[in-house]
Amino acid sequence: AQREMSTLPRVYVTRQIPPEGLKILRESGQVQFELWDSDDVPVPRKELLEKVKGVDGLLCVLTEKIDAELLEAAGPSLKVVSTMSVGFDHLSLEELKKRGIHVGYTPDVLTDAVAELTVALLLTTSRRLIEATHEAKTGGWGTWRTLWLCGYELANSTVGILGLGRIGVAIAERLAPFKVKKFIYTDVAPRPELASTINAEYVSLDQLAKQSDFLALCCALTPETKEICNKDLFSKMKKTSIFINTSRGGVVNQEDLYEALSTGQIAAAGLDVTVPEPLPTSHPLFTLKNCVILPHIASASYTTRNAMSALAANNLLLGLRGEPMIKELKL
Ligand code: DGY
Repeated sequence: AQREMSTLPRVYVTRQIPPEGLKILRESGQVQFELWDSDDVPVPRKELLEKVKGVDGLLCVLTEKIDAELLEAAGPSLKVVSTMSVGFDHLSLEELKKRGIHVGYTPDVLTDAVAELTVALLLTTSRRLIEATHEAKTGGWGTWRTLWLCGYELANSTVGILGLGRIGVAIAERLAPFKVKKFIYTDVAPRPELASTINAEYVSLDQLAKQSDFLALCCALTPETKEICNKDLFSKMKKTSIFINTSRGGVVNQEDLYEALSTGQIAAAGLDVTVPEPLPTSHPLFTLKNCVILPHIASASYTTRNAMSALAANNLLLGLRGEPMIKELKL
């Protein structure tokens, strides 16, 4: 049995992933895998560089940088990288492509969870819920006051989506029943098919900033979108606008955001993602009442995280068999 085991493709799993994925790997009989057996700390880089030596497959999460150094350490045996995430900014796509490595990722299965959380964060931010519970708990609740803790409502508003994809559409579908007046979006090019499902109008980035009462970031982090939300963009936004980011922290210039929030250039921001993660507790953004910060939990439902785990495992196994993955990133 020992001998038979050793001929199976070797896989390294960089995290104790949710049970569904581990079960699939274990029961496949197709791979022998080693696991960084913790979910509380990521595998240290040095350990990772050791463990990937000579593996055929790698299953990772977004805390691992899959770059030239790592691929060199793994060597030519590495055929498949499967990430348990829809985001792929932690992967050096050029380097992977150069080596003919197939890459799996986990779109679709997290769309509902991310859209739900985005709506929750949007309402939390626009209706000042964190401030409000704090006031209620700490004695700030005097009498009922006419303008105390007032925020902004979705009814009759214009909602802007930066980067219209599966998640942007799912967010708009959920917000529409709140009587949003108009959806607008920008992207590298119009996406009429997606946009028609939510009746969204294509506008320039400039117009998106100017017209949006709520601006939701739904794009991937790429060289083109890096810090696309900067002082130039914030300066065009309405003083009453709400800024929501459930994509990647790197899309935003955080110093400029701090400036916009602290000077009243925009009304408030809700962030599920930051640079770095975790955001140090001493970060100036934490001092602002009009900034709600969550620890990257948009896809964090049991159902979704298990579905992501299972999809990442299945992608990996298919890739190792040389078959098309369920969700493969086109390089
Ligand atoms: C992703 O999948 O990229 C999210 O950021 C975590 O679910």
